[in-house]
This record gives sequence, C-alpha cells and structure tokens, in this order.
Amino acid sequence: MKPHHSGPTLNVLGSTFLSFSAYRTKTVRVKFTKVSVFQRGYLTPGASLRVTHGAGGGAVPGSKSVKSPTLRAASIIKPCGTYIFLPSFYPHPPSSCSLSTSCPLFIVTRRDYTMLNARKTTRITPHVTSPTAVPPSRAIQASTLPARSLAPKSSTQFPRNFHKLTIEQVGAEKHYYLTEDGRKILDVSGGAAVSCFGPGPNDRIANAVFEAYKIYGGYSCSYSFTNPSTQDFIDALVQSAGGYMEAALLYGSGSDAVEAAAKIILQYHAENNQLQRKVFIAREQSYHGTTLAALSWGSYWSRRKPFEDVLMTVPRVTACNPYRGKKAGETDQAYVARLRAELEQTFLDVGPEKIAGFVCEPVVGAALGCMPAIPGYLQAVRELCDKYNVPLVFDEIMCGWGRSGTLHAWQDYGVVPDIQLLGKGLVGGYEVLSAMLIGKKLGAMDAIRRGSGFFNHGHTIQGMPKTCAGALETMRMVEEQLPNIREMGKRLMEGLQARLRAHPNVGDIRGKGLFIGIEFVQDNLSKTAFNPDDRVSVSLHEMGLTSPHDIHVYPGTGSANPEGREGDHIILAPPFDVDGAEVDLIVSLVGNLIEHFFKEFKPNKQ
Ligand SMILES: Cc1ncc(COP(=O)(O)O)c(C=O)c1O
Repeated sequence: MKPHHSGPTLNVLGSTFLSFSAYRTKTVRVKFTKVSVFQRGYLTPGASLRVTHGAGGGAVPGSKSVKSPTLRAASIIKPCGTYIFLPSFYPHPPSSCSLSTSCPLFIVTRRDYTMLNARKTTRITPHVTSPTAVPPSRAIQASTLPARSLAPKSSTQFPRNFHKLTIEQVGAEKHYYLTEDGRKILDVSGGAAVSCFGPGPNDRIANAVFEAYKIYGGYSCSYSFTNPSTQDFIDALVQSAGGYMEAALLYGSGSDAVEAAAKIILQYHAENNQLQRKVFIAREQSYHGTTLAALSWGSYWSRRKPFEDVLMTVPRVTACNPYRGKKAGETDQAYVARLRAELEQTFLDVGPEKIAGFVCEPVVGAALGCMPAIPGYLQAVRELCDKYNVPLVFDEIMCGWGRSGTLHAWQDYGVVPDIQLLGKGLVGGYEVLSAMLIGKKLGAMDAIRRGSGFFNHGHTIQGMPKTCAGALETMRMVEEQLPNIREMGKRLMEGLQARLRAHPNVGDIRGKGLFIGIEFVQDNLSKTAFNPDDRVSVSLHEMGLTSPHDIHVYPGTGSANPEGREGDHIILAPPFDVDGAEVDLIVSLVGNLIEHFFKEFKPNKQ
C-alpha cells in the first residue's frame, strides 16, 4: 500500500496511549514530544514505519524507512489491533513518524509499557499465539479484580473513576465494540442507553451529517443565525408530539436540558409575578443528571454525596415501584391511590403557591433499572399538577425517543407533560444533542415573549446544523423501527423471564420496549438486597466484558431502598434494529453471564 501523508496529525506525549482505529487503511503522521526511549517495534507484515527526525529529533538526521520484518515479524497479528512498540534502537526520539497499515494500531511508548507492565490486571502481552485468543492478562477477571488498586492508564486523561478499569476500544462494527485484544463485545445496553443502532458507524447518519457539514461547516452561532437544518429538526421534533408541544430548545448533554428546564420554569413563574414559586418536588430513586440543579432533582445518593451541601432542597415523594412498594394483596388502583395521596400531601405541606414544578421519569432508568409507571399513576400525577397549577416535567432522557416502544414515552400512557426532556439517543449516539420541549398548555413561551422577551439561559453551542441533520435522520430511523422495538422488546422480555425467572438471585425483570432492567437480590423470596460493598452489579458488568461473555450490560445501584444506598440492577437497552436471532443470542448471553456470576460470587462477610 502506498503510504500517503495527508492523514491527520496527532501529538503523542510521553505517556499517551492512542488508538488509531479511526485511521484504518490510512497513513497517520505522529509527532512525538518529550519521548526519550522507545521499546521494540512490532508491525503487521507489509506495513511500514517511516521515522523522520526533524527539529528536536536528535542524533539521527534525515529520515529512515523501516520495514516491519526488520523490526520483527509481527507475532501478534490479530483480526484487529496491533501494538507498535516504538524502536529502542533510535538513541533519540524522532520528531515524527508515519505509519502505514491496514490495521488499527496502538502506539505504546516505553513509559506506558512500563506502567502497563506494573499493572498486572492490564498488562499487554505482545505474543498472542492465536488470532482470536484473548490475552488472559488483558482480560478483566471480575472475581479477582482488585477493587481499589487500579491506576489510570494514561497520566493525562483524567479517569472517570480511578478504581474502575476501562477497556481500550479500537473500533466499532454494527452492534459490537472492537477491543485492542481482538475481541468483539456485543453492546446490549446501548452503552448507557444511548446508541440506538449499536456503536458502529452508520452510513445514513454519516451522510446526513456530512451533507450538512458541507453546506454549513461545523459551528453556527445560534445567537445570530438560524438555518434550515436546525429548523427542520426542531419542526419535526415538535410535530412528533402530536400538537401538544409548541416549541423546542436544543442543548448538549441531558444534564444541560434538565438545567434548562429548571431555569425556564423559574423564569416562567418570575414573568408571571410568582417569584415565590421556587420549590421543585421530585421523587426518590431518580436520576436527572450531574449539574447542580439536575443533581438536586435526582436522589442518586452516591452521586450527590460530595455536593450535598450546595444542592437545592427538593422535597421527595415515593417512586412508583410496584416490585418493592406495593403491599401484599394491594391492587394497582389502591397502590396508585396511595402514591397520589402522598404527592397531594407533599404539595399541601410545601404550600402549592411555593411549588415551581414536579419532575419524574415515566420509566425510571439508571436509578431504578427500567421501572415503568403502572397504569393510572401518571394520570393521577397529571390531575394533581393541574389541580395545584404545578408544571409537570417528564425527564425522558433515558426512556424516550423510541427506547420504551413509542417515540415519546408519555404517548403510551396518554399523559402529556408541560416540559419534556430528551437526550442520550436523540442522535442515536452519533452526535451530542439534548432537547427541551415546551408544552402548549403551560404558555411559557407566551409568558416570556410578553415579559422580558428572552430566555436567560444561552449556551455557546446549541443545535448545530450538522448535528441536527443527524438528529433528523435518526428520528426517521427510530420511527421506522418502532414496530420492531415493540416486537423485539416483547421477545426479549419473554426470553429473559423464561430463562431467569426462577434464578434465586433474580428478583425482578421489568421494563418497556427495548429497555429492560434486571434487579438482583440475595434471595427472591425475601427480596433482600446485597451489601453495597459486594459491588454486585458493577462486578457482573465487568465480568460481562471478559471472554467468553463479551457483552456490555449497564450496571446500576440503589434500587432497593428510598435513599438509594442498596440495590443492584443491570439495564439492557439493545439496538433498535435487532432481529429475533440476535434477541435470542442476548437472552442466552445475559443468562449465561448471570448464572456464571452468581456461581462464582462470594459475598463479603457482613
Ligand atoms: C433520566 C436521565 N436524566 C438525565 C440524565 C443526564 O444526562 P447526561 O448524562 O447526558 O447529562 C440521565 C443520564 O443518565 C438520565 O438517565
């Protein structure tokens, strides 16, 4: 393959560990800074490494081409993923080098290698004998994983969690993540219920985004301009709500949209001279995001803990959780009546004239593991909100946009919110976008139009044209798949029930559409939760990422008690375009994983 040098330029600092999967079949140009010594080189046969010494390069002038056999015939060729340990025979660091290969590459500098070597659980073993073998040292051993001893791989990337190992991804293919040790991991949870069609590239979205990019470029200043791409998506989004919504605003993360909801409601009350309406009411066992207002609304104890003192005071009512909340022999109607009475009492205790709004997830995601509202519950909430003039917010960031079987989760319940939030899969995981829909009934737009005239909550980047083009195409694709989501969701639920219902550690399997949660218990008669120190859901998720399981399930905690301190569940949120055979495979893989995990599981001494 003829190398060409138009590939992207990447800076490699001394300790950087890079995946080159995005540059398959291309030559990439790599610039090195502050790298003093390199390890031996391994290259795919036929690939070439061209090292150029330029300014700051050191003793070897000019450039030097090295064919892979010279470096050492690669004994580590795998279907994807090759490590390049840069040659140690260069006494001084090259300023740049060009790599030409048809495989995804890893560059490992010596410092990384040393670091990886030092970490027994993640050490790279270069000599993998079989192309499909998983280097055992690379695989996470869930049962032996040291809970608190992992260091970040790269010293420059601040890890999300110093105690949790992440896996090096080198690519994605349809419904699979491709890892650097040559494995394909089936994503049965859409990551964190984000990817709608799997993590792999998608031509329809890529084309839509690229066409818009060719016209509008990347950034459009939404303070000064609008454009047909953004407008078309917003129109389609608002129309998709069947005439109940009047407008939408676009943001980035889900938390951004939640923050905007809190602000627009507060401003709406201010425009109506109701400045005393400042108290939001939310529910136990809910998660609404990580920014300060969003964190205040949510009750996710472990995420709130360090920030508790600076959060808003948010009175809470019990979540609608029939698995744990319903009394023995209680009917759905009686349970709903009880929850309704509690909410009304809370409104009265706070004083309806002080309430800014009430927020809930129609199907609770991360905090309760896909718990759908039972029939009649959301109607009861709507009635009370109407009675006391309390704006009702539905956070559909996780459960909406097709995930629960209808485009908007509320459509199946026949209950319309005043403010609706969407995020996660709004562009199928291909771009970052969230949205806030404003209900017609509330009249927030009119209040602000006639009042101050502007919503005092702008972001620099909102609703970029290329992102919206991707969102519009995603919306079409999701709508096409709605019947499949319902049909495959039913098949998945039935399959999981048949396989796992009798398992003593499976307490409940629930959900809606392709959004299914499995809650784990010490025994399914007493429903006793596991000790949080056992890290059941997280360890099970970690085991899933090892061979032979190779599946990604999304773990959650806190589903067992109102403060969210105990309880373990996993979320399954498979791609919307799964077929029957793949659903059956998911049932089998998830069943095997759960059975394997609990066979090996040894609880902490309590
Ligand atoms: C229901 C719900 N709301 C809000 C958020 C926050 O979204 P993000 O993480 O994109 O900020 C999440 C994230 O999991 C969520 O599940």
